[in-house]
Amino acid sequence: MQNTIIKNIKERRSIRNFEEKKIDKEELKEIIQAGKYAPSATNDQPWKFIVITKKEMIQELSNQIREELKKLLKWRFIKKFKIKQLRNIDILKFIFVVAFSKTDMIFFNAPALVLILTQDKLFYDESCACCAQNMMLAANSIGIGSCWIGFASVLGLNKKILENIGIPYNHHISAAIIFGYPREKKIRASIRKIGSDIIKWIE
Ligand SMILES: Cc1cc2nc3c(=O)[nH]c(=O)nc-3n(C[C@H](O)[C@H](O)[C@H](O)COP(=O)(O)O)c2cc1C
Repeated sequence: MQNTIIKNIKERRSIRNFEEKKIDKEELKEIIQAGKYAPSATNDQPWKFIVITKKEMIQELSNQIREELKKLLKWRFIKKFKIKQLRNIDILKFIFVVAFSKTDMIFFNAPALVLILTQDKLFYDESCACCAQNMMLAANSIGIGSCWIGFASVLGLNKKILENIGIPYNHHISAAIIFGYPREKKIRASIRKIGSDIIKWIE
């Protein structure tokens, strides 16, 4: 079965290499509009958005994330009791590479960063994940690449940074997505787990 929506879903890939070009504001508005049409628990629509297109600000946030990652590495023996991932040597190595990289391995010099904010309430983060996926698919459908940046969640470890970005009281970053025009036009096909390994049919 194939239609434009299924094709768009299957063709979307995470993009980490962008043209220098700024994204048209109307296109960003359209992407957010698509996000707002996502399903949400009890239709609470629990999202707020911060849209950052100021390059220096994105760079600054990237630097702050790297500083937070360095702190995590430094205090890993204590932090690992609270943050399970710090017990995994491969994750630690990856954090090290990202934190000390000369290039921006956080936001990949993307021209736009959208933070989706929400409160710590039942199913709010799940609703925001639906919103994020809508936005990434909408972007793909108009030729804009995107990538969810989980590393951005470490910004939440530093309350001062959250205040500086203007994150409202009682809100946290539920999703951070970078957007930009992809530099590579031909992106490799997606490889997915085969159905027989992950689907159980009860008929
Ligand atoms: C919750 C979440 C967090 C992610 N965090 C990062 C990240 O911090 N950096 C990154 O480069 N990609 C990140 N990704 C993108 C994944 O690496 C990517 O979706 C995955 O490799 C599958 O590739 P595809 O999106 O091209 O299908 C994240 C994706 C999700 C859903």
